[in-house]
Amino acid sequence: MKIFSIIGARPQFIKSALLSQAIREFHKEFLLHTGQHYDFNMSGLFFKELGIPEPDINLNVGSGYHGEQTAQMIIGIERYLLKEKPDLVLIYGDTNSTLAGAIASAKLMIPVAHVEAGLRSYNRKMPEEINRIVADCFSTFCFCPCENAARNLEKEGIKEGIYIVGDVMFDLLKKWEEGKFSYRLDNKWAEEYWLMTFHRAENTVDPEPIKMIFNAIYKAKIDVYFPAHPRTRKFLNDFSILIPSNLHLIDPLGYPETMSRLKDSKGLITDSGGLQKEAYWLSKPCITLREQTEWIETVEEKANKVVGLDADLLFNEMTTDWFNKKANRNLYGDGESCKKIVEIINHGN
Ligand code: UD1
Repeated sequence: MKIFSIIGARPQFIKSALLSQAIREFHKEFLLHTGQHYDFNMSGLFFKELGIPEPDINLNVGSGYHGEQTAQMIIGIERYLLKEKPDLVLIYGDTNSTLAGAIASAKLMIPVAHVEAGLRSYNRKMPEEINRIVADCFSTFCFCPCENAARNLEKEGIKEGIYIVGDVMFDLLKKWEEGKFSYRLDNKWAEEYWLMTFHRAENTVDPEPIKMIFNAIYKAKIDVYFPAHPRTRKFLNDFSILIPSNLHLIDPLGYPETMSRLKDSKGLITDSGGLQKEAYWLSKPCITLREQTEWIETVEEKANKVVGLDADLLFNEMTTDWFNKKANRNLYGDGESCKKIVEIINHGN
């Protein structure tokens, strides 16, 4: 079979790393990078560290308004779909690259497989929510990481092609735990610290709540390391937001270093989707700077607290002991998701 995989943004490089390898054992893969992320530490670094094959084509679409960016991706993807004539298109997650891949393929009536299907925040103000709904709706194979995701699809009337396979990110985390990726920690961090990331569109608009968040971090009197997405750094610069002395603003990190720093931390403060699960797998408390999460199981397990941009709640969760250390680690499969996905693709059902 010829499988046409579409990636473009940082989380998709992580999700595709092992699945690409597993697919190539049985099939021919054509790998298209949309170019949504392009800085070395947002893209090239992940290919290098995780041994992801060189993309067959990079559309170099870059940044832009949603319509403009997605439209350019659709044009480029369609051109290569027509040329390559794949049997199946593989899309990941919920970015604009996912959306473009789903639309271009569905219009050409090429079957689509969506990895990380069925997640819902039920907040349509998030661009990712719109991308997920469209991607699932056009997919022949919906590969869900958990039961809840499958239930979400059923509620939307999707009856066929739903497979609960676990989370491909757990496969990768286990490989990292086995020491499969080499990396160097160049500098020493404080003995005790929290790791923080935020980059969501909705969290990088209004400077006022972020100033309050930074104030809460200052009051918590513990070091916080903050690898900042380029969008976040621009936001902080544009609004001249002051960074407290215990908050260390640094460049984005690669995958193995992020896992290592997270493992050594007291916990995570984030608005990322993937990191919420990685904290849970590494038994670290996660405080989520969003109004809701798709990963509701982590909240039910008392491994994750969703606080929005409420600085008082953040301070409270940073300074009290609420984390369930015995949280079950197997909410999102057993680390064999790539194998399961390939088996399903091989059998066509
Ligand atoms: C995208 C995804 C989001 C995902 C995130 C992971 C969408 C709608 N959102 O958000 O779901 O969690 O990726 O990082 O697809 N930029 C750079 N260099 C880069 C990439 C981006 O400077 O290599 C800057 C540009 O100013 C750009 C901004 O970051 O405008 C936002 O990038 P974009 O890809 O539009 O969205 P993300 O915030 O990265």
